Amino acid sequence: MRIDIITVLPELLKSPFEASILKRAIEAGLVEVHFHNLRDFTTDNYKSIDDTQFGGGAGMVMMVEPIDKCISKLKEERNYDEVIYMTPDGDTLNQSIANQISLKENIIILCGHYKGVDQRVRDMFITKEISIGDYVLSGGELGAAVLCDAVIRLIPGVLGNETSALTDSFQDNLLAPPIYTKPRNYKGLEVPEVLLSGHAANIEKWREDQAYQRTKDRRPDLLED
Ligand code: ADE
Repeated sequence: MRIDIITVLPELLKSPFEASILKRAIEAGLVEVHFHNLRDFTTDNYKSIDDTQFGGGAGMVMMVEPIDKCISKLKEERNYDEVIYMTPDGDTLNQSIANQISLKENIIILCGHYKGVDQRVRDMFITKEISIGDYVLSGGELGAAVLCDAVIRLIPGVLGNETSALTDSFQDNLLAPPIYTKPRNYKGLEVPEVLLSGHAANIEKWREDQAYQRTKDRRPDLLED
């Protein structure tokens, strides 16, 4: 998979890709991530990427031309399955969306700033609009980092144990069950007996029951559909 991220603040985005699982995935060649600074696609001496709104109103709007230049250049080099715009009015990111995106070959992620992009950018180029939640960030970069993390860990070979993404919370529309490690007793708090029994079928059943109960208590909405 190849991810091209268009941003005005590449320095805000880079560190998540330089540590831990994302770093390993890149080093193993399972994913390529490229950053493109929108200011490199400006046409004036001030390297402007934004301007005031037509019709008046507070806040600047990101202009079409630098974004067009950047996306068009990328599209000359390869085909893209999706051009994603990070925006608070997009579809709220969930596991199902992350699963779908993890199957793509090449994607572009555009990070918005200020009030957002000129509507014509969305009309001309964007195939998917994603929000990471009902709150407003100061730019799309942190949202793009969240999206990339959720997607990249699903690419086969990225996680050490291939099955571990399948037992994550949300993969069956259920939250994950409680988990324990050593010691068996910590300050009087015991690990549930069944997990020490070595009886695989009973352990599986206990985990399923716990996952269901936890989902019912915390996120009953997940059981509705
Ligand atoms: N940009 C600003 N707020 C955002 C959000 N909630 N999700 C994605 N991108 C954003």
